[in-house]
Amino acid sequence: MTETERQWAEETAEKILRKVEVTAERNLHKIPYTTENGVFDDWSDRIWWWTNGFFAGQLWLLYHAFHRESFRTAAEEIEEKLDKNLMDYQGMDHDSGFRYLLTAVADYRETGKEVSKNRGLLAAANLAGRFNLAGGFLRAWNDEGSGEKAGWAIIDCMMNLPLLYWASEQTGDDRFAQIARCHANTAMRTFIREDGSANHIVEFDQRTGAVLRSNGGQGMQEGSSWTRGQAWALYGFGLSYRHTGDPNYLRTAERVAEYLFRQMPEDGLIPVDFCQPAECGWEDCSAAAILSCGFLELEGHLGGERGEACHRAAVHLLRTLAEKRCRFDTETDHIVENCTAAYHDKEHNFALIYADYYFTEAVLRLAGKNLFLW
Ligand code: GLY
Repeated sequence: MTETERQWAEETAEKILRKVEVTAERNLHKIPYTTENGVFDDWSDRIWWWTNGFFAGQLWLLYHAFHRESFRTAAEEIEEKLDKNLMDYQGMDHDSGFRYLLTAVADYRETGKEVSKNRGLLAAANLAGRFNLAGGFLRAWNDEGSGEKAGWAIIDCMMNLPLLYWASEQTGDDRFAQIARCHANTAMRTFIREDGSANHIVEFDQRTGAVLRSNGGQGMQEGSSWTRGQAWALYGFGLSYRHTGDPNYLRTAERVAEYLFRQMPEDGLIPVDFCQPAECGWEDCSAAAILSCGFLELEGHLGGERGEACHRAAVHLLRTLAEKRCRFDTETDHIVENCTAAYHDKEHNFALIYADYYFTEAVLRLAGKNLFLW
């Protein structure tokens, strides 16, 4: 990393800090998902939503880097609110990694609180309980008993596996890690395509484990290339390599990276789907932020020229976001603009809290101030 890059990252981290000091204070007691007219909304009454850990995660990152007590107390409040979800069988799905690594486990890493560790372990046990032996996958979502989604697994789940690796490290009980590896092996075999791109959803026969079909999910269509899904694959396989040392995971992440190098537009602005029509104009800056984190993760594992290529890609994406798609003023609560939850949704190019989280994580990592939460 060059001195200019480090200086840029430090200055950008300061900008994030100055903004969040104001926005966190005026949004106390909220769990934001997006903004309405620039003001954070509040999902405290939909406590099961998969994104409900990201604001707390961002606060823990900033607390670690800059030691503001108000960030810690606000993050702890969200962690406590999430206990309601932990007690709701239907509310708990495979996204426990996103929800509990960034709240309870982050708290435990920073403060050593036993109550937080216990929350993390309960969430991990629930996630492990979603393992489907036939086919070897973690079931993604619930369906209130219809069975419609019984055999569904999604690429996003690669980001939830670190909760299982963490639980094995904490307890000395290898079952959690075995389940994570089994899911990662299935994902490597059934989600990653010949060209290094990833499917969003794969549907299995829950009883036999046979692959029935793949499904375009939040992307444009079956067989297309939903960019956030590619980002989950990149970072997710990189993280499974970090936790297990299995070279197959690193090779898979590298194949995804090579595919991304061929697909990413030179201007660094990431579309919702790499297959969308050129004139479409829908972006997903959350994918850009997650990709930055994924490339920074791979940089360390690959080293040499391939590692440097990952580093350059991460810096290019981050600087593009900062210069063209970020708000560091305090007029809005969000930082990152032009995100999209799903291609076929009515709304596109708006704020999403996880874009702010991953942007913050990547900038702090470049600045050498990161708290590793995965
Ligand atoms: N994990 C769901 C999404 O990326 O939208």
